[in-house]
Amino acid sequence: MTNRRDFLKSTGAAALGAAMPAIAFGHDKLEIHSRPIPGTGEELPMVGLGNSRIFQEGDLEATRKLIELFLSYGGSYIDTLGPSRFTVASVMQAHELQSRLFVGTYLGTVQYDAMVEELERVRKAQGKEVLDLVLTYDFNEILAEPERYVRLKEEGLIRYLGVARHKLEFHEPMMRLMDMGIVDFVQVNYSLLEPEAGETVLPMAQEKNVAILVNRAFTNGDYFDVVRDRELPEWAAEIDCESWAQFSLKFILSHPAVTCVLTETANPDHLVDNMAAGMGRLPDQSMRQKMLELVQSFV
Ligand SMILES: NC(=O)c1ccc[n+]([C@@H]2O[C@H](COP(=O)([O-])OP(=O)(O)OC[C@H]3O[C@@H](n4cnc5c(N)ncnc54)[C@H](OP(=O)(O)O)[C@@H]3O)[C@@H](O)[C@H]2O)c1
Repeated sequence: MTNRRDFLKSTGAAALGAAMPAIAFGHDKLEIHSRPIPGTGEELPMVGLGNSRIFQEGDLEATRKLIELFLSYGGSYIDTLGPSRFTVASVMQAHELQSRLFVGTYLGTVQYDAMVEELERVRKAQGKEVLDLVLTYDFNEILAEPERYVRLKEEGLIRYLGVARHKLEFHEPMMRLMDMGIVDFVQVNYSLLEPEAGETVLPMAQEKNVAILVNRAFTNGDYFDVVRDRELPEWAAEIDCESWAQFSLKFILSHPAVTCVLTETANPDHLVDNMAAGMGRLPDQSMRQKMLELVQSFV
């Protein structure tokens, strides 16, 4: 298995590693914190990568660089959909990153045999023995016939099963699935601009021992339009927060139900900014309230 130094050497990226900006808070090490997956206790680093445009475009060199940078900060979870599954798999296979990356794979089919065939193609491309996490966004199918999906796990094709959506209307069926005890992971929208899940889906995930992945941390970029040209409050320094991106991510990560927040970016500087949110202090309940009120007052 390739260690970090070998990986940097084999990809000719040692220089990039050396040039990586230091994180300014004086932490012991430049690695993000992890959280346990409730069902198993397996540790998952708490800042993940979303389905980046770079992966979707199949740009292998840019994907390699982004993943290298992500790994150098202790990242592990990558969300992959459609063709991105094979771009990320290709980099994973070429650099023997199977044990370092925890990959979420979206299903594109619904019939059992087709799902098995599809997942086997992804698994072979990744070079993993078993896929980590398979996600469906087809709530009608999984609610109608959960056994078809659970069987993927029972047959040893996948380690974890999950559902993913990014709209309020799916919060109720997410909770139904958690109540039925079918899913290990739920991926849901939750942020300073879309805080609803914090009172419903997230507490239920804690109660039912389900891992939470958060999407739309930046409401697909709209959040940055809301905070643009505004000064970060001075009290943000109390939680080691140096940017508006970290302000959002630290709010999300301070909810105890959240296992990992997804951050979609094609920009290495943004990736470094986002990873820093997984280090240092997080807000307590009263600061969370202050953060929410501040951003809501901008809307
Ligand atoms: N299953 C579902 O229904 C579903 C739906 C939506 C999303 N998702 C998952 O969630 C992931 C996140 O997607 P999202 O739509 O929720 O996107 P998001 O992470 O909320 O926002 C992405 C946008 O923020 C910008 N950005 C990221 N970091 C930044 C930083 N530090 N400073 C300034 N700008 C920054 C990115 O631009 P740059 O590229 O320029 O950084 C991009 O325009 C997706 O990739 C996907 O994996 C799943």
